[in-house]
Amino acid sequence: MALAEETKRIAAQFDYSDQDVNVGVREFLKQMHEGLERDGTSLSQIPTYVTGVPNGTEKGLYLAVDLGGTNFRVCSIHLNGDTTFNLTYSKVAIPKELMVAKKASDLFSFLAKQIELFLRTHHGAHFDASIRRRQTVSTPEGFRDEHIFRLGFTFSFPVQQFGINKGTLMRWTKGFDIPDAIGKDVCALLQQEIDNLHLPVKVAALVNDTVGTLMARSYTSPGKTSTLVGAIFGTGTNGAYVEKASNIKKPIKGDYDRSTGRMIINTEWGSFDNQLNVLPNTSYDIALDQESVNPGIQIFEKRVSGMFLGEIVRLVIVDMLKNAEISLFRDDHSGQNDWKSTTTIAPESGLFKQWGLDSSLMSVAAADSTPDHSSLRQELEKQLHIYAASLEDARAFKDIAYAVGRRAARLSAVALGAIVLQSGQLQEPGDEPIDIGVDGSLVEHYPFFRDMIYEALAAVEGIGPEGAKRIRIGIAKDGSGVGAALIALVAAGMEKKANVDYLHGVRNGIVHKFTDSARQLTATVG
Ligand code: GLC
Repeated sequence: MALAEETKRIAAQFDYSDQDVNVGVREFLKQMHEGLERDGTSLSQIPTYVTGVPNGTEKGLYLAVDLGGTNFRVCSIHLNGDTTFNLTYSKVAIPKELMVAKKASDLFSFLAKQIELFLRTHHGAHFDASIRRRQTVSTPEGFRDEHIFRLGFTFSFPVQQFGINKGTLMRWTKGFDIPDAIGKDVCALLQQEIDNLHLPVKVAALVNDTVGTLMARSYTSPGKTSTLVGAIFGTGTNGAYVEKASNIKKPIKGDYDRSTGRMIINTEWGSFDNQLNVLPNTSYDIALDQESVNPGIQIFEKRVSGMFLGEIVRLVIVDMLKNAEISLFRDDHSGQNDWKSTTTIAPESGLFKQWGLDSSLMSVAAADSTPDHSSLRQELEKQLHIYAASLEDARAFKDIAYAVGRRAARLSAVALGAIVLQSGQLQEPGDEPIDIGVDGSLVEHYPFFRDMIYEALAAVEGIGPEGAKRIRIGIAKDGSGVGAALIALVAAGMEKKANVDYLHGVRNGIVHKFTDSARQLTATVG
């Protein structure tokens, strides 16, 4: 009984009421506006130079790579032009030592090698032909441009963009820490390593995974209304949305297509309210932040995303283990346990290590509705080496995990709700859905995550239950791959146009100086 009561008391610290949601939304809107006005604010609101979303008719073969979490993915995408695509990919875990490497080139040369391996495996004929050509063609001019793969580089960290394939790293997130890379152009770093290996690849576009998700969702589910938001709820969390260009008050360097009147903004909402004006801050949140590689930043992300939720739960459980009064995961004898076996926690249990509790265990807890919580108890054994946990223990674990997960979902609704309000789409006539594309392990695997988001959205002033019904949150699978390909496609189109314009200019005696930053995405606006 003492355990149940203490669990309830701790779980209540993670309550996030309807009123909290509304206070959060107002603050989010305020910080969105600040980010549109100037650099260096909490919400970075980064202009992406992508000024439109696709309509599903785009075609071609592109490469895409994705760096942003635990894995590095290389893929080739064939866009079929009828809202469908074929995707081939390979995935490799990023060695932990490279996430905190000394030099940026340690990481980027690893990435280039994976691209080479992928090309050899999946595009062998093209790759061999390019090697033969290199051996027979003596001048670089002989190397035909159309033989070069255009690559979309999904790099899911905060980057200050200067053009469609240019941008400097602002800070690392999600456990990466390579100070040497900060302030450098990440596309140039990758291109350098690609060139060192003489690969027929040009880094054509720099893409945040949220922007990729937005593009992919627009490509695959075009409707009368195009997608408004692309969001990731995975290892990290972030969102990108379509903003009216006239609302962006801070200067945007370089040229971009003004004709659409819009620009996709990468909010970097992981850093919403770093100053803790309104975000909840339990002792567990404080401990997690202090022990992280980047204390004081990504404060919103540390309450919402998969990388951190398991750690919050772990900190709570460890705290409860210290409390002798409540006997969590502890029996004096087997008679106290409904499985008639004393509970033991192996010394090597992840419970005793930072990041040792994977958030996937929270999904198992949420999904287990069996009366004796048998699947959760088995999983506690498998993942955390907690043997013969009692039913009471399992219930306590489930309740804590639920409280942390529910708070994360309701915080997610703060970000989404604020963007919906900012767009003004609910005021527009008609009953077209407001489309939001999402990806990431949390939305995909955490049971009821979306339901909990909807419930909180319905409580937002200005949205309400009717407004919430108009919001359509749908999974955009492989967003970063397909989206990156789509941006590479339009970037390649821009290059071609620039080349044609250049030749035309030369013929007419006018020489324009084209810079890459002048190339922007002009995908068809749906
Ligand atoms: C982190 C990154 C952001 C990315 C998100 C999701 O918040 O800073 O760029 O979009 O994770 O992967």
